[in-house]
Amino acid sequence: MQNKTLLVAFGGASPEHEVSVLTAHQAIAALDSNSGYQIKPLYITKSGRWLTGEALLDLKNFEDLKKLEQQSVPCKFAHNEYGATVLQEGSKGFFSKKTETPIFAVLCAFHGSSGENGAFQGVCEMYNLPCTGSGVMGSAIGMDKVAAKSICRDHGIPVVDAVDFLEQEWIDGQPAITDQIEKLDYPVIVKPVHLGSSIGVEIVKNRDELIHAVETAFRYDQHILVEKVISPLMEINCSVLGSSQKQRVSVCERPLSREEILSFKDKYMSDENMKGMASADREIPADIPDALATSIQETSKKIFRLISCSGLARLDFLVHADTHQFYFNEINTIPGSFSFYLWKESGLAFDQLILELIDRAVEEHQQRNRRIQSYETNLLSKKAVKGIKGLKDNK
Ligand SMILES: Nc1ncnc2c1ncn2[C@@H]1O[C@H](COP(=O)(O)OP(=O)(O)O)[C@@H](O)[C@H]1O
Ligand SMILES: [Mg+2]
Repeated sequence: MQNKTLLVAFGGASPEHEVSVLTAHQAIAALDSNSGYQIKPLYITKSGRWLTGEALLDLKNFEDLKKLEQQSVPCKFAHNEYGATVLQEGSKGFFSKKTETPIFAVLCAFHGSSGENGAFQGVCEMYNLPCTGSGVMGSAIGMDKVAAKSICRDHGIPVVDAVDFLEQEWIDGQPAITDQIEKLDYPVIVKPVHLGSSIGVEIVKNRDELIHAVETAFRYDQHILVEKVISPLMEINCSVLGSSQKQRVSVCERPLSREEILSFKDKYMSDENMKGMASADREIPADIPDALATSIQETSKKIFRLISCSGLARLDFLVHADTHQFYFNEINTIPGSFSFYLWKESGLAFDQLILELIDRAVEEHQQRNRRIQSYETNLLSKKAVKGIKGLKDNK
């Protein structure tokens, strides 16, 4: 039974492009030929082209991106004559018939930018396609460190004291913003609000370093967050699986860093073969008191609900290593490697995790389609339109 097409979407115009390629290929490898799905890749290049084709299913081909683009076929979503959403392939020849494949569901494996911030999820929603993971709102809030933290703060979940500002505000009022930041006391940590993988993140110890780090961060993002540094720091993460109505939580992990902050290198390159997040140095389950683990797990479920997440997320916490006070740091709505290593430790194999994500996406999609989507009115009837001002001939 191999008739349902699962579209695996990855890549994208994001600084985390390569990480997404790895996550997608890990998921493809986990879904063996008995999964019941025919896998089709949807690879979005760094410049935003949508491509498909067999060549994209072999990770080795990503060593030469130019050649890979030539071997692949342009594609797009479209509606077929029956109104179903299809992946339409090929662009050559005005009269040539394009290949069209009905899509059963989309496995969304982007990291960062428009693949993770709700934009791609919105495209799927417009095309009425089941797409794994959070929808537009959960994805958008999850991608915005300031928005996610302010929702948590409003609900009594501890977050680190911080100052955030936009590029124009910095240009207009740098001294006042610097004063406000210095009230937090050095060292502080500078972060782009919408990025991940520690890109543009820097701990600074004085004003000169601060200004330099802020200007570097503005190269990635127009919104910057500067936080008080937690030291000595212990990082604890866990993953939540479910919907905003019901959730399960994984064991906690403790990622281990060789530097002051967990760097891109720590996260993805600790293994020569670049196996992705799963190969980074980590302690699973984290060797922390049960009460702390339980508090973090319960808080994670609460945040998942508050942010209207769905499918899977990994929630990251900063813990003061001496006092064990914990702070919500961020939520990753499409975590590296789909956090499969946490679920494996919690008794759920990688292939089962992916299958559950797809089932959940399909189920939620069906539930959405069952709800009333239109409201019958006669607003556009001739009589009603007559009374509306501002229309031609209706002065
Ligand atoms: N307030 C903080 N105090 C100390 N270290 C921090 C703080 N915030 C972040 N870090 C360190 O920086 C890393 C990256 O920051 P994070 O907010 O997780 O951004 P990203 O989305 O890029 O992963 C964290 O994993 C942690 O090691
Ligand atoms: Mg992080």
